[in-house]
Amino acid sequence: MIKQALSLLSTGNIIGMPTESVYGLAADATNDAAVARIYAVKNRPSINPLIIHVDSIEMARQWGVFTELAETLAKEFWYKIPSSLTLIVKRNNAALSHLVTAGLDTVAIRMPMHPIALDLIGKFGKPLSAPSANKSNSISPTSAEAVAIELGDLIPLIIDGGPCRVGIESTILDVSGNEVILLRPGGTTVEAIEDIIKKSITMPDLNELTESTKSFKAPGMMKRHYAPAIPLRLNAITAFPGEAYLAFGKENPQQQETLNLSETGSLIEATANLFRMMRQLDCPAYKGIAVAPILNIGLGLAINDRLTRASAR
Ligand code: TXA
Ligand code: MG
Repeated sequence: MIKQALSLLSTGNIIGMPTESVYGLAADATNDAAVARIYAVKNRPSINPLIIHVDSIEMARQWGVFTELAETLAKEFWYKIPSSLTLIVKRNNAALSHLVTAGLDTVAIRMPMHPIALDLIGKFGKPLSAPSANKSNSISPTSAEAVAIELGDLIPLIIDGGPCRVGIESTILDVSGNEVILLRPGGTTVEAIEDIIKKSITMPDLNELTESTKSFKAPGMMKRHYAPAIPLRLNAITAFPGEAYLAFGKENPQQQETLNLSETGSLIEATANLFRMMRQLDCPAYKGIAVAPILNIGLGLAINDRLTRASAR
């Protein structure tokens, strides 16, 4: 399987790749034609840059400028603390496709924690650019089956690495300037990052940014994103007739739950279940999905961010 994957990648094809966060649609990050294929298959606007995936800090340094701060973060969150962290740094290698970075002078880099992804990238010897393996604006896939349903006919190979352990996209942190800026909450919590860097992160309200600042700072943070086809209603204490109820914990025992993100109220479990359950409930049998309130701390920040974008119309 890895041999076939390597041969496909080196001839400019794109494949489905497991990571600990969500499944990615991977291509050789130095091959413009292969990268262009990613944008085409996803139907993604080419102003929205991609993350490159490396197998080590050593590989990362060959493609981006790692300041002391970026080094510290990579050493902690790529190696020691189980998490998913993408760092935005200045690009430093002309061989990296400019389509990957959408013409910006910065590049998004992360080291995934999935052994298959690490093995594949290591053997390939170059970074793989990989957005989530779904059509633009739909829900990110957390299993190989979910990739197959959406993109199976369009790509030659999907490597099955089992269900994603984290289940939500990586946290994106811009460390390319003097300030440390959170561009997307995700699998690494703000609290854990601030604990390591001993200073606070700038957290712009990504929905409040003007369209022009947004496209510069965080090109992918569209207001409506990760969306199911049926309406999603947040902070719902009860479901209306016809709605599915996505519960969290056992706070509202009188409410008939359709599914529960985590019966014990664990944010880790809820994160891992979120996208699978959103897909499961996204069917015409329901008028909409009512989602229980979820604490806005730790991983709850990422969960609420995705739910808010999914509910925007
Ligand atoms: O967990 C993840 O990050 C997954 C897995 C597959 O690795 N990937 C993922 O990629 O979520 P994607 O393409 O769905 O999201 C990448 C985000 C986009 O919002 C994009 O705008 C932002 O990263 N991004 C990429 N390069 C950037 C840059 N140079 N400056 C600012 N934002 C950037
Ligand atoms: Mg995506």
